[in-house]
Amino acid sequence: MHRLLIKNAKALVGSHAGGIDRLAGATMAHLPCIEDGWLLAEDGRIIDLGPMETWPGITDWNGLEVLDATDRYVLPGWCDPHTHSIFAAPREEEFVMKLKGATYQEIAALGGGILNSARKLRGMSEDDLYESAKARLEAMMHQGTVAVEIKSGYGLSLESELKMLRVAKRLKESLPLQVKTTLLAAHALPEEFKEDRAGYLDLVLNELLPAVSREGLADFIDVFCETNYFTVAEMEQVLEAGERKGMKGKVHVNQFTSIGGIAAAVKHGAMSVDHLEVMEESDITALAGSNTIPTLLPSCSFFLRIPYAPARALIDRGCAVALASDHNPGSSPTGNMNLVLSLACIQLRMLPEEAINAATMNAAAAMGLSAELGSITKGKRASFIITKPIPSLAYLPYAFGADHIDTVIIDGKPARAGEATA
Ligand code: NIG
Ligand code: FE
Repeated sequence: MHRLLIKNAKALVGSHAGGIDRLAGATMAHLPCIEDGWLLAEDGRIIDLGPMETWPGITDWNGLEVLDATDRYVLPGWCDPHTHSIFAAPREEEFVMKLKGATYQEIAALGGGILNSARKLRGMSEDDLYESAKARLEAMMHQGTVAVEIKSGYGLSLESELKMLRVAKRLKESLPLQVKTTLLAAHALPEEFKEDRAGYLDLVLNELLPAVSREGLADFIDVFCETNYFTVAEMEQVLEAGERKGMKGKVHVNQFTSIGGIAAAVKHGAMSVDHLEVMEESDITALAGSNTIPTLLPSCSFFLRIPYAPARALIDRGCAVALASDHNPGSSPTGNMNLVLSLACIQLRMLPEEAINAATMNAAAAMGLSAELGSITKGKRASFIITKPIPSLAYLPYAFGADHIDTVIIDGKPARAGEATA
């Protein structure tokens, strides 16, 4: 049996009670901490925890690994519920075009953007795709990410969408972090279906979706519901078909325009609606009081210089806001959740406590993992970040751009070894 003891933690952060699956509205500012804490994990699960004064001591040191976290915070590892981490190549040439004045939509119209990524991915072998994505996820684990959602959507054909999802499955099996997968075939209309929208949707709904379901390759289904991409009616068709295969929706909506996608996604019981940079009052009203999680992606707003999502209004209206990196080559070439945390505070005006809850508990909820991850709670997976010695929790988002992480533990085992040893 593998056992891990963390002792003398400056605080065990996010020590929420069991049974809480998300933090909505005003409760997002509630981040319980056990000061001067200890925690015991067995076989990758938290089995007990408390303040040092209640530490029962250890009589059986057999196979026990001990970490001394004096002056260091222990946090639940980051959950990243929206990424496109499998892709063939970065797109820094488009970045330079944008610096010279082109817009995201103009680049897309020239065959760049998602279609550029699709062309490259179609020409890449499954093994090469796997190796490059693995390296990306390893870097993300090093930065504290312990669970990640990965979308398809750069294949845009039966063969290449399946290739992406098979790569995701291999990543799930070979890496220690939790991986959830999403079918995003309705990401853009591929070149060969330019004049045949109905033909592409038919392929997605009647060939790809059944094949993905047969192989058990996707947990969720996604659509880029946006002007010039897919309409609300098309999104509803895809969500209904996904629902019949037991895949809940996690959809891209309101990135550039507000066309009614949020109300429709909520009506279909979507697990999350993601982006939300351009919001009307009716969009917020549709979300308020629903179980659908707004997942905000501030690194995408930063990179594309588009508006930031109205996080404060969503929290004021009682929503359980989650954060994600949107890691992808076109609109957010980072998978660093520490940077996302800083942007959430600086640009979305979330409090450090709210942002930490949004990147842990609510992010876990946005991929159906909050019974497993997202807080330091008995029974959950022992997946943590141990910080370097830092003066306060607010220092984490405040001192942006620096690496404040010492150790990353996934399921009780170090994924990044640091100085916090006994
Ligand atoms: O989440 N908005 C749609 N999809 C991605 C961008 C994809 C790309 O540009 O490659 C996003 O921003
Ligand atoms: Fe995205």
